[in-house]
Amino acid sequence: MRRSLRRVLALGVAAAVVVVPACSSSSNSNDSSSGQGASKVEVFSWWTGPGEEDGLAAMIADFKAKNGGIEFINAAVSGGAGSNAKAILAGRLQAGDPPDSYQRHAGLELQDDIKAGKVQDITYLYDQEKWRDVFPSGLMEYLTIDGKIYSVPVNIHRSNLLYYNPKVLKDAGIAAPPKTWSEFLTQAETLKAAGKTAISIGPGWTQKHLLENVLLGELGADKYGDLWNGKLDWTSAEVTGALETYKKVLSYSDISSAAADWQPALDKLIEGAAAYNVMGDWADAYLAGTKKLVYKEGYGVVASPGSDGVYNFLSDTFTLPVGAKNKAAAEKWLMECGSKAGQDAFNPKKGSIPARKDADKSLYKGYLADAVAEFQDSSTKIVGSLAHGVVANNAWNAEIDTALGLFVKDGDVAKFAASVKKSYEATK
Ligand code: GAL
Repeated sequence: MRRSLRRVLALGVAAAVVVVPACSSSSNSNDSSSGQGASKVEVFSWWTGPGEEDGLAAMIADFKAKNGGIEFINAAVSGGAGSNAKAILAGRLQAGDPPDSYQRHAGLELQDDIKAGKVQDITYLYDQEKWRDVFPSGLMEYLTIDGKIYSVPVNIHRSNLLYYNPKVLKDAGIAAPPKTWSEFLTQAETLKAAGKTAISIGPGWTQKHLLENVLLGELGADKYGDLWNGKLDWTSAEVTGALETYKKVLSYSDISSAAADWQPALDKLIEGAAAYNVMGDWADAYLAGTKKLVYKEGYGVVASPGSDGVYNFLSDTFTLPVGAKNKAAAEKWLMECGSKAGQDAFNPKKGSIPARKDADKSLYKGYLADAVAEFQDSSTKIVGSLAHGVVANNAWNAEIDTALGLFVKDGDVAKFAASVKKSYEATK
């Protein structure tokens, strides 16, 4: 399950993977059968903000054009990375009041739902739509338990990107963005002396997003992968060394006046108060789309330090929950999510590349054209994101959140490392 996507693709491993037996998630007994519940569909996501909302709107428009009779209820809850949506969704699932389809990340975040019997087996849609032929088999592995498939991927996002303001760098006499975190720290001193914030930051999930990418850059792709499968000891010298680097990076951030979400953190970069920000490629949609900045002129983006040639991936998917009230309409929504037209409407605006291998490449411009090429380059190493649900289950992720909240205040590396190690053992 935690093998790299590229390795899985290279080996041509079949999608079926045995992890933990699924509970009775494929039972349709509580659901309206196909043909019923076709007049409306309630879709739950966290895409309300500038940038990502546009992608969702484009896919909804395509859905409506094809399914005129179905009322679309957009139940999106604001808050980057699902910071508010996930708690609200948990309450609804607990209360037996699921939306007709909800957003989940491919990987262990989804697999928790599968094991808990919250989502229905939709293998039949994969057969009907012939999706096995168009989605990378390595990605499907993250959606599958016991050979049954439980959600439809709309995209591939990249977490490990360093955005920068070219003018701020130029004014500070910095020729190019840093290739390593150590080089970043040297530049950060220069930027500080020039009265600039070296790196802007937002709420807790963005701090975790930065953490995963400092760990990736410091440890390299293979050891980064081993952080999530128990092979690399969090209390070892190499991991605590990387955590020390993270602590230093944070000391050059504006964490004491952290932005409320990822867009306002990027605004500091746009305004020239900050030089850098580490964020996923949804930021490209915000900068190039919402803010109309020109790639390589108004803003720049490179792999985060130490992660050139590595794609730290995540994938947004949509599910069919057990108990969905409008199953037939939800199936139509899932067909939209998996369709070429749906993905090509959504992804250029969302700032992601399509999950489908046969999407229309000419629609992906600027940064996204580079991203499509890099993802498809066989020498690119692919690893999974912590902050976006790929590599750690929800229980461990929640423990890491708590420990990280303390760590960014007390800076106690040994305590943080020991706590993450202990909670891995307790939640695996
Ligand atoms: C991620 C999600 C992306 C984007 C981002 C910021 O978790 O996968 O699609 O929405 O959060 O909100």
